[in-house]
Amino acid sequence: MKDFLKQAEELFPYTQAMRRDFHKHPELGFNEIRTGGIVAKELEALGIEVTKGIGKTGVVGFLEGSKPGPTILLRFDMDALPITEETGAEYSSTNAGVMHACGHDGHTAIGLTVAKILNQQKDELAGNIKFCFQPSEEGTNGEDVGGALMMIRDGVLEGPKVEKTLSLHVWNDKPVGWIHVARGPVMAGAELFIVKLTGKGGHGAAPDTTIDPIVCAAQIVTALQTIVSRNIEPLKPAVVSVTSIHSGTAFNIIPQTAEIWGTIRTFDHEVRKRVLERFEQIVRGMATSMNCEVEITIKQITAPVINNEEVAASVFNSAQALFPATEIASNSYLTMGAEDMGYMQEKADGCYFFIGSANDEKNLNYNHHHPKFDFDEQALIKGVALMSSAASDLLK
Ligand code: NI
Repeated sequence: MKDFLKQAEELFPYTQAMRRDFHKHPELGFNEIRTGGIVAKELEALGIEVTKGIGKTGVVGFLEGSKPGPTILLRFDMDALPITEETGAEYSSTNAGVMHACGHDGHTAIGLTVAKILNQQKDELAGNIKFCFQPSEEGTNGEDVGGALMMIRDGVLEGPKVEKTLSLHVWNDKPVGWIHVARGPVMAGAELFIVKLTGKGGHGAAPDTTIDPIVCAAQIVTALQTIVSRNIEPLKPAVVSVTSIHSGTAFNIIPQTAEIWGTIRTFDHEVRKRVLERFEQIVRGMATSMNCEVEITIKQITAPVINNEEVAASVFNSAQALFPATEIASNSYLTMGAEDMGYMQEKADGCYFFIGSANDEKNLNYNHHHPKFDFDEQALIKGVALMSSAASDLLK
């Protein structure tokens, strides 16, 4: 076995320099022009075939192994957030109001280092690797879809067809050294819903001449609570939250319309299907019984990230071989955070794993998306080692 950890340690000065450079020059989703340019240049310098403009600012490097085999995709997100940095680090953002507050600077640097390591071993690879540097993970930023969907639309999973995917996140909720590789669901899928009820407005003193959308909305909110409590298996997580209701203008007017907004979170495809089914039945049924017209809009924000059993088992074994002294977490550590890698993992079997990155002693323990967010760069070494080793193991 190649000593991936040793190589990751030797290349750490490169990974760190790249990470700090990206950190200093953060770019928002679909604006990763400088970042993507550097990524393309670095990959080309290795002799890796590069395609730009996949998903607007996305960059894909294609490494052909010497032996035949499947094509796998390693995904690294590149975008920053609209936050003013307050870390005081020497490599702080020089782009006012924009900051790498989620660690995607680290992911991009990890990706370039992994490309260096695996490129040296292409003679041993039975299959091909697509190094996928994705824009706009954090949202759609004015486009109709986010980075992962846009790259899928532009064919990143085709020609040659991607059979497996790997991706990672540095994770400040846990200390550096903690590594998590789980089978099954890891991040929730999220939906946004809007229910628009139309009744018949009128005088507050003459309710019998109206169709009251407020009473209907109230019944719907109450009835929606039965989805999680009565229709979903108690050991499977699901959330249905009504987060906003708007209706009415005065104390003596029964309004014409009412609008209900909220979100649905699930981890499991079947649970999601069931929640959406019951949601529709309850809302339509209640509206009908109250004589209101109803319009339902449900927009998927992200698909859940669900790790394939087999790919996750392979990554878990790679992690155990790499870090024998570390206990690799494989229990269901679920997070409600959204992540658009779920869309790629819907189409190709994948594993999304977490690399603990906080360090209390160094004060590197702020939450993701906080203006003081920064992580322990030792996590970069672990990320590089595990990603290269896991990819190499999938192409044995
Ligand atoms: Ni992130």
